[in-house]
Amino acid sequence: MQPLLWVVVTVLHLLALVTRPALSDPSDEACLSNLRRSMTDPGNRLCNWTAATFVASCNGFTSYLHGVTCNNGRVYKLALPGLTLGGSLSPYLANCTNLQSLDLSSNALTGPIPPQLSTLLNLAVLNLSANRLSGTIPPQLALCAYLNFIDLHANLLSGTIPAQLGLLARLSAFDVSYNRLEGPIPALFANRSDDLALPRFNASSFVGNRGLYGYPLPPERGGRGLSVPAIVGIGLGSGLLSLVLSFTAVCVWLRATERTTKAPGEEGKVSHLDY
Ligand SMILES: *[C@@H]1O[C@H](CO)[C@@H](O)[C@H](O)[C@H]1NC(C)=O
Ligand SMILES: *[C@@H]1O[C@H](CO)[C@@H](O)[C@H](O)[C@H]1NC(C)=O
Ligand SMILES: *[C@@H]1O[C@H](CO)[C@@H](O)[C@H](O)[C@H]1NC(C)=O
Ligand SMILES: *[C@@H]1O[C@H](CO)[C@@H](O)[C@H](O)[C@H]1NC(C)=O
Ligand SMILES: *[C@@H]1O[C@H](CO)[C@@H](O)[C@H](O)[C@H]1NC(C)=O
Repeated sequence: MQPLLWVVVTVLHLLALVTRPALSDPSDEACLSNLRRSMTDPGNRLCNWTAATFVASCNGFTSYLHGVTCNNGRVYKLALPGLTLGGSLSPYLANCTNLQSLDLSSNALTGPIPPQLSTLLNLAVLNLSANRLSGTIPPQLALCAYLNFIDLHANLLSGTIPAQLGLLARLSAFDVSYNRLEGPIPALFANRSDDLALPRFNASSFVGNRGLYGYPLPPERGGRGLSVPAIVGIGLGSGLLSLVLSFTAVCVWLRATERTTKAPGEEGKVSHLDY
């Protein structure tokens, strides 16, 4: 009787452990708490994001945090667009290891895009558009093999477009327009292989970057983007040229009139012939 009771009690204990509401994964907790710390929230839209709620941020498919979606007890989607969030992107975002979609678009975030995001191997959507992010686009993002959407338009990003990103086989939307990018557009973007049926990206993905050139944008810049010394040089050069030309023209005209005045007889002969 005694051993049976012990078994029943043990089984009940185990059942209780299994059915207890799941606490969030410790790495998700590190991710969310550090992200909250790195951002400012003047509109107090993340009032739900408190230390207590981080611990129980996901329970199965239920999330207790604004903008967080869960799947099997793990954070798989973060969507906080248009909340006037400031501050920066925490590199600890990389601790949300099951993250598939990150949308922090239309906020006022500053600072760099953490290269640590490259460890998010399930990431399919990266939308950081319409912020004030600066620095370069981390080439390491090419390690996120499932990336479908990269939208970084309307930021202050500089440097060149990492050619590696053009190798992302699933990439179907890519927008880096209206930044401060420069250099040639990697051929892998404009001219992706037809055999692999990779979508090509047209000029709308790249416009609004003064330093970017090459297909599908116009080739390396002509008149519009010339430097000030070049413009001054061309101005002076063409001014000088037109001066020389008009001087020559005047000389030729003077010589011609001189010749006609020196030969009045000839002119007279010609007029005589008319009669
Ligand atoms: C979070 O990520 C950092 C660096 O990637 C790692 O050192 C740390 O152990 C992670 N924390 C948790 C709780 O997983
Ligand atoms: C905040 O969390 C509570 C549950 O804890 C939820 O009912 C409420 O809708 C959440 N508010 C927002 C803005 O997400
Ligand atoms: C990114 O978010 C903006 C609005 O916040 C939206 O207009 C845009 O379509 C999104 N980009 C992608 C690729 O879904
Ligand atoms: C694009 O590919 C075509 C052939 O597929 C090639 O003729 C052309 O030069 C390529 N353009 C660039 C910019 O690489
Ligand atoms: C560029 O491609 C996008 C879809 O990726 C499309 O909506 C848009 O109309 C295209 N623009 C031009 C000028 O072809």
